[in-house]
Amino acid sequence: MRFLLASALLLLAWADDSFYLPPLEGKQGPEVALILVQGASSPVAGYKPVGLAIQQASSFKVWVGVPQHLFDIAEFQFDSKVDSMLKEMEKAGMQADHKVLMGHSLGAVGCQYYGAGSGQGKVDAMVLTGSAVLRKYRDSTKLPPTLTLDGDLDGLLRITRQAEGYFHQVVKVGGAAAGMDRPVVLLEGLNHWSFSSGDLPSNVKKNDIRAEVSVEAGHAMIGQVVSDYFTSLFGSGSIKQAAQQKIVDAVKKTGEILDPLLAAMHLEGYHYLNPPCNSDFPTNPTCQYPKYPDKSLLPPAGPPKPLPPADCTCGSEWVASVAANIVAGFEQTPAAQSKLVSKDAFHDVSDVRPFHLPHIFEPKPGTACTDPAKCYINATTVSMPIYDFKDDFDFGLWPVTASEFRTKFKSREALQQAAGLPNVNYTATDELNSKICQSINQASIMSITAPA
Ligand SMILES: *[C@@H]1O[C@H](CO)[C@@H](O)[C@H](O)[C@H]1NC(C)=O
Ligand SMILES: *[C@@H]1O[C@H](CO)[C@@H](O)[C@H](O)[C@H]1NC(C)=O
Repeated sequence: MRFLLASALLLLAWADDSFYLPPLEGKQGPEVALILVQGASSPVAGYKPVGLAIQQASSFKVWVGVPQHLFDIAEFQFDSKVDSMLKEMEKAGMQADHKVLMGHSLGAVGCQYYGAGSGQGKVDAMVLTGSAVLRKYRDSTKLPPTLTLDGDLDGLLRITRQAEGYFHQVVKVGGAAAGMDRPVVLLEGLNHWSFSSGDLPSNVKKNDIRAEVSVEAGHAMIGQVVSDYFTSLFGSGSIKQAAQQKIVDAVKKTGEILDPLLAAMHLEGYHYLNPPCNSDFPTNPTCQYPKYPDKSLLPPAGPPKPLPPADCTCGSEWVASVAANIVAGFEQTPAAQSKLVSKDAFHDVSDVRPFHLPHIFEPKPGTACTDPAKCYINATTVSMPIYDFKDDFDFGLWPVTASEFRTKFKSREALQQAAGLPNVNYTATDELNSKICQSINQASIMSITAPA
């Protein structure tokens, strides 16, 4: 009751600060209605400078409407707010040839719900800022052409999440020119709040990274990209082509920023790039991961439905190529020149249907190489990456990549014995050896921070 009363009082006191900016003098070409959708707790007035910057950069007649949503949360009354803003601008003389939704932060999430739901087919394009195409819409064809535009210093929607989007929207579809339906452009030095202005809401204050570009310069950069995007979609002839090329160039430049991050994510075997394979039901012919021991407590769990795609990720490349060699510890032994070929697969390490254990396939169990200097060892490991459950919400705020790996390796003793080293002492190689895990942890940090 008290909540209802409080809500009713709030509603009475709620001033609607919605506003629109008519096109600037001297603009020609198509008329574009741009609805800017506010971020949570982000006052609409803060979006005026960026709206103006877009109008200035574009040669089109751009109307900018900024509706204020109830309690500054764009989830409420989304449809009616868009409709009434369009009506208001039409009353003021707008005859829009094209309609574009540009959302910031939570507002960009609202844009996607709208674009794939009740607003499907109603807008010609979307621009998501401080946000990304949600995973749930990654394979959806319901969204209109959508530009993701963000700062590389966004502290609320992190660059790692943008790298994931870039992989799916650009890399996997064949590159910047092929990915024009959902381009991703990151502007260097801009942060989450670079898309608005004025006092920071508390959540932004708490999480954003300091921008390296002034508010004004940032707005001008945003204005230019959005203007190019409009021209690439709604322009004609050589002007349209030139704008398309500018977007392609900006996407390529973004790729240069993201390449090292994506390389690290591939090395990990990050689950939201290509999904993990299931080595019990091989679908990727390159994995070549043999089952071991192929025993099960109770009947084995059946095949996953659907089966992973043929380009699924076999296991962690980092575990296979770096960690496994650290465990073997062949350097400074007579086996230094021997070759360990280790393959990794992802499984829950507590799985018993069937069990998954590391194994040495060559040399055969019970045998060893006669010459440690020329040994070839063929072995497997099993890894369970641990991901932050909060990332299931797909906010981009919490870490997206694995925080920890639980990996089952063969012991150093077993690997060194297989290599043919004499007098391997388990107490020394493994039992009292805390250096192995320490070195692996150290290497996991070094291999990311070391310059290429
Ligand atoms: C390793 O051994 C397994 C089992 O014998 C075999 O299937 C696989 O092809 C071998 N891999 C390499 C790289 O030799
Ligand atoms: C094995 O290593 C441990 C620890 O270094 C040592 O105390 C022990 O004497 C060694 N055993 C043999 C047989 O060398």
